[in-house]
Amino acid sequence: MNYLGFNPNSLTETVRNLNQLLADYQVYYQNLRNFHWNVEGENFFDLHAQFEALYTDARIKIDEIAERILTLRSRPVSTLTDYLETSNVEEARQITNDRKMVMTILDNHKVLISCMRDVISAADKAGDEGTIDMVGGFLSELEKKSWMLDAWASRKTEMAMA
Ligand SMILES: [Fe+2]
Repeated sequence: MNYLGFNPNSLTETVRNLNQLLADYQVYYQNLRNFHWNVEGENFFDLHAQFEALYTDARIKIDEIAERILTLRSRPVSTLTDYLETSNVEEARQITNDRKMVMTILDNHKVLISCMRDVISAADKAGDEGTIDMVGGFLSELEKKSWMLDAWASRKTEMAMA
């Protein structure tokens, strides 16, 4: 039953963008786990906990995105092979440098933020308020987290220059 009241064709672009966001989030999630495990140095306790908080949050959002795609009567990308092929977030190498990790995560956020805006733009064209509401919430949260990570990185830059 078409309880959503959408013409299915009007959702194609939104679903494509949501699957892109899902793939991006999966690689971002694994980057955070990688950094949670491998971070070293004087910021270990801060960043070990911070990366865990971020991946715990990402795990919830990954599920929400996949289930939104299903709600829109489509199928989420579901295999690691497809995630790696589709993702615009690059898989991080195994590194230990805390600052490089934070800069990498900020770069990942830039990709995610751009993809979220694409989702919202496509959903707006289709009048899909449910997707706009969900992803709009994710977007403002990620923007705020990015500010915090950037503030951390800025202080480190000043200290390095002093
Ligand atoms: Fe852990």
